[in-house]
Amino acid sequence: MSYEKNNVRVMLTKEEIAEKVSEMGKKLTAEFAGKEVMLIGVLKGSFIFMADLVRAIDLPIQLDFISAKSYSGTTTTGVVNVKMDTHLQIEGKTVLLVEDILDTGKTLSALRETMYSRGAADVKIVTFLDKPARRLVDIEADYSCYTIENRFVVGYGLDCDEQYRNLDYVGELLL
Ligand code: IMP
Ligand code: MG
Repeated sequence: MSYEKNNVRVMLTKEEIAEKVSEMGKKLTAEFAGKEVMLIGVLKGSFIFMADLVRAIDLPIQLDFISAKSYSGTTTTGVVNVKMDTHLQIEGKTVLLVEDILDTGKTLSALRETMYSRGAADVKIVTFLDKPARRLVDIEADYSCYTIENRFVVGYGLDCDEQYRNLDYVGELLL
């Protein structure tokens, strides 16, 4: 589908997002004070949220990225294909997995297992958006900025066929 900004109905403005992400940063700062926290962003969708979030956290954090695709098909959990892996040592760390959107839950559920299998002390899920209506796997976000209805959204890192990631707002893509 071609890029058509007129088909994007604004749901969250740039200003609303900035306010919410700043609040989330403060919350995480309070909750993880004194811990060795590593934020791992799930590429590509999380890159803008991650960039804003880390600047709102006032702690000595480390950060890394991972790129993964969950296998679609009949099985619901466990298998994830890591396309680009993390570089830092995960053992003993409190890992915050940072996602753009928690949808079916397959990706984060598998990645959380991956992090535990690598020796993470604790793994928490931080997602910008949560779309609970679509969940196929029993997983909940530990921290989410917004819960949304079952709509396809783009912008602020989220794409449709790799387009729209650079919008500084989030909108529903009207087809
Ligand atoms: P899941 O939770 O494993 O189904 O995968 C979540 C991934 O699906 C996200 O990281 C997004 O890349 C993609 N996704 C799910 N819902 C949307 C949406 O509304 N807009 C754009 N991407 C989405
Ligand atoms: Mg995507």
